[in-house]
Amino acid sequence: MFAKIDPANSTTFSCAGERLRKGELVAFPTETVYGLGAHALDAQAIEKIFVAKGRPKTDPLIVHVLSIIEALDLAVLDGAEHAAFEALATAFWPGPLTLVVRAQELIPKNVTAGGIFVGLRAPAHDVARELLRVSGVPIAAPSANRFGHVSPTTAQHVLNDLRASDVLIIDGGASQVGVESTVLKLMSVSDGVQLEILRPGFITQKDIETCLMKTAIQNATVVQKTMIVSQTEAQQSPGQLLTHYSPRLKCYLWDKTCSFENLSKQIDVSKSVLINFGKNFDAHAPLFFRTFNLSVNAKIDETSQNLFSLLREAEDVVGAEIIVLPNLELADEKWAAVYDRMFRAASGKILK
Ligand code: TXA
Ligand code: MG
Repeated sequence: MFAKIDPANSTTFSCAGERLRKGELVAFPTETVYGLGAHALDAQAIEKIFVAKGRPKTDPLIVHVLSIIEALDLAVLDGAEHAAFEALATAFWPGPLTLVVRAQELIPKNVTAGGIFVGLRAPAHDVARELLRVSGVPIAAPSANRFGHVSPTTAQHVLNDLRASDVLIIDGGASQVGVESTVLKLMSVSDGVQLEILRPGFITQKDIETCLMKTAIQNATVVQKTMIVSQTEAQQSPGQLLTHYSPRLKCYLWDKTCSFENLSKQIDVSKSVLINFGKNFDAHAPLFFRTFNLSVNAKIDETSQNLFSLLREAEDVVGAEIIVLPNLELADEKWAAVYDRMFRAASGKILK
């Protein structure tokens, strides 16, 4: 069978639940992006995810659960880790936070990429939650795109990438958040608990620190993992690769310091699609092959919701060869996740 989209109704849910229990693939919406799911405790089912995505076996998968209760069955936590885990999950679940913790033995090794840690997340989207309820199993799910491509925020994006695979895609409309969850690793160290942000997302470092303070979690420090710029460097979280979320066309970030004349010397503007932001480059927009806008009013929620779908629209513009994105200035930490995805879509190439 090839991929197909079905509406989110009771017939689809019971069929999807059955498929998951039988070891088959189901793609579903979450509030961040669409996931490509399989029964998290079935190693053979997990294998199908890697094949459908063309994903390297070194990249571990996030396991989706309904709540803290199901998560605790899959995690190994000491006292300090447990306190921090519970505080964070209570504050941010269901929602876009993945907690990476030591894994129980029952989790197959292909979920953890052979490691001892597993990423756990309770998604907020109604469709994802209903699927978890109906299937009755934890669901391992990476973003439902071909490996390295732009993440999907609609059912159609998933179909476009995974057309040739046997996967039932549940249509739940466009994802609200639009960029993937914050990935936070949680680990006891000699003087407390260390929390490491492996991937920036909607939940920021400040959100995490505020939560820890409010819940009186002592001796917890939050650090940001810096971006991996080399494909060959040892990877703690392979999603940190510089080139990721890549559209099929060459992609660049246009810095404010670079005049239009200077830009035109570096790329052929007449073959470029501009994905504008606010009114930044309005004056020159008509000179591009085609123009889109992430958010005319420069709003963060709109920008993050639109980014992946506009990258996909831009790469499909017939005759276009290049995509140009603004090199955003980060007003505050809320922008870090969006900027991170844009920077990687452009493989870090900034035109100055
Ligand atoms: O919002 C999301 O997180 C979406 C939805 C579907 O839940 N999922 C998602 O999955 O973005 P994926 O596989 O595309 O990205 C997961 C990221 C990768 O960077 C992976 O390396 C990291 O999380 N990750 C997962 N498990 C990990 C682990 N055990 N240790 C370190 N990093 C892990
Ligand atoms: Mg992904």
